[in-house]
Amino acid sequence: MLVLGIECSCDETAAAVVVDGEEILSSAVASQVLTHEKYGGVVPELASREHLKKITPIVNEALTRAGIGLNEVDALAVTEGPGLIGSLLVGLVYGKALALSLGKPLVGVNHLEGHIHAVLLENRRARRAGREVEAAALPAAALVVSGGHTSLFLVTTESVDGNPVFSYTPLGQTRDDAAGEAFDKVAKLLALGYPGGPIIDQLAGFGNPEAFVFGRIKMKGNPYDFSFSGLKTAVLYRVRGTALASEAEARRAWRKSAGRVTSEEIRSHCSQATLDLVASFQHAVITDLIERTQAAAESRRVQTIFVSGGVACNSLLRARFAEAAISRAVQVFFPSPELSTDNAAMIAAAGYYKLVAGHRADTSLTAHASFPLGA
Ligand code: KG4
Ligand code: ZN
Repeated sequence: MLVLGIECSCDETAAAVVVDGEEILSSAVASQVLTHEKYGGVVPELASREHLKKITPIVNEALTRAGIGLNEVDALAVTEGPGLIGSLLVGLVYGKALALSLGKPLVGVNHLEGHIHAVLLENRRARRAGREVEAAALPAAALVVSGGHTSLFLVTTESVDGNPVFSYTPLGQTRDDAAGEAFDKVAKLLALGYPGGPIIDQLAGFGNPEAFVFGRIKMKGNPYDFSFSGLKTAVLYRVRGTALASEAEARRAWRKSAGRVTSEEIRSHCSQATLDLVASFQHAVITDLIERTQAAAESRRVQTIFVSGGVACNSLLRARFAEAAISRAVQVFFPSPELSTDNAAMIAAAGYYKLVAGHRADTSLTAHASFPLGA
């Protein structure tokens, strides 16, 4: 089954063609980073306008790269939420109109479900390609960690009429900022650039993660919930009124006049104290993500952990989870970086399983800014 996936929930316009939820024929992504860069975050109105401009070229690109025509698509899968409502609507209405005009089945997919399926898709791809990787066995504790989400789920599967049907039980989620959002806000505070996650990831390698001590993040109630706004404020207090603040202002002025700069150039405009601060901040975020995910997995007695979403690209997160996998005898699975950040292949893969399980969206399908998974 050839599924055309469409994803427009935030600031990436994406389309992909995936065969049977495991073979990616194409995955096209138009990033809006340049549009939102100067604001240090996604501007919803600009995002929807960009999606409108990009959706047709990106769908065409996905089809061309897959070497197929629209009529060869067997079904469509579109993200129905959660996300920015104006952005979601562009992809959803586009997908719905295509499905109606082609007379092909359509399913709506939860964006978080898509991120979880990115892990399964990557695993099936790797095994198909003959790479020696373990099968990603369920049940799993799945951490979805991006600019918009930080959520933990228990993922289980059962066979219904020979087809796998997936279930998601929410275990915890952020009560304020998402982890990626905290990376972006700290980078904005320090005038390091946007998006902040990849930049901090690179700069942190040159800093001492123990130079600034941030206390453990305490959570009352559910121990698998997250909170990063306090840490972000703690970084602000370390900066405000100090030499780090004047350094950040100088960097802001330099960046304005310099145009596009490389991470090397940014690093050369950072003092050792700034590098130490970002390394310490990153260390605190990653430690919290890992400890809560491990604790959730242990509490549910599962030996498999999935990590996906933009922050899953973080090199420290990957390295620390890999260490934990060895010391705790758990299996940890990540998608490749391209499948970790927003993409439509994960939507097509998740949609495939809904389609084979008999799901079909009708014309009432609509977008939801808030759209809990498994609640
Ligand atoms: O999944 P994604 O593409 O979009 C959302 O659904 O939010 O994730 C984007 C987020 C941004 O906040 C970005 O700063 C963060 O992922 N990110 C990273 C890294 N690469 C991207 N955070 C930490 N380390 C990275 N290497
Ligand atoms: Zn996402």
